[in-house]
Amino acid sequence: MKEYILKNNDFLVSQTDSKGEIIFANDDFCEVAGYTLDELVGKPHNIVRHPDMPKAAFKELWETIKSDKVWSGYVKNRTKDGGYYWVYATIYPIYDEVRKEKTYLSCRRKSSQKEIEEAQALYKTLK
Ligand SMILES: Cc1cc2nc3c(=O)[nH]c(=O)nc-3n(C[C@H](O)[C@H](O)[C@H](O)COP(=O)(O)O)c2cc1C
Repeated sequence: MKEYILKNNDFLVSQTDSKGEIIFANDDFCEVAGYTLDELVGKPHNIVRHPDMPKAAFKELWETIKSDKVWSGYVKNRTKDGGYYWVYATIYPIYDEVRKEKTYLSCRRKSSQKEIEEAQALYKTLK
């Protein structure tokens, strides 16, 4: 399927509640993923999950953020039309004063071809 290469200054942001349901996504995220904000809000974040991503990566991600630490890593995501794109993501655990609950904020930038190849090689060794 078709790869979408992020632009240098693309910055994809999304926020979830404590269970991983999307509560916010910025314009860059919606545009690249191919969804409107309305289509994303209320959905589990695995709506953009690509089958090539190993379960182990998300297990580590959730263990890290649930213990209030910041997680960073490479993620291959699927677009609504079946294409894919790679990002380097950092996820911050944030207490939301309005919602009175813990939320998570993910900020993603473009990853280089070299970074993508290294992540791809690593993920092939994981389940
Ligand atoms: C703030 C935040 C952002 C996330 N972003 C993504 C993402 O871009 N792509 C993705 O596949 N999973 C993302 N996840 C992880 C998903 O919640 C989920 O664990 C993952 O897609 C694997 O799906 P599964 O748990 O149903 O196996 C994110 C989680 C959080 C908390």
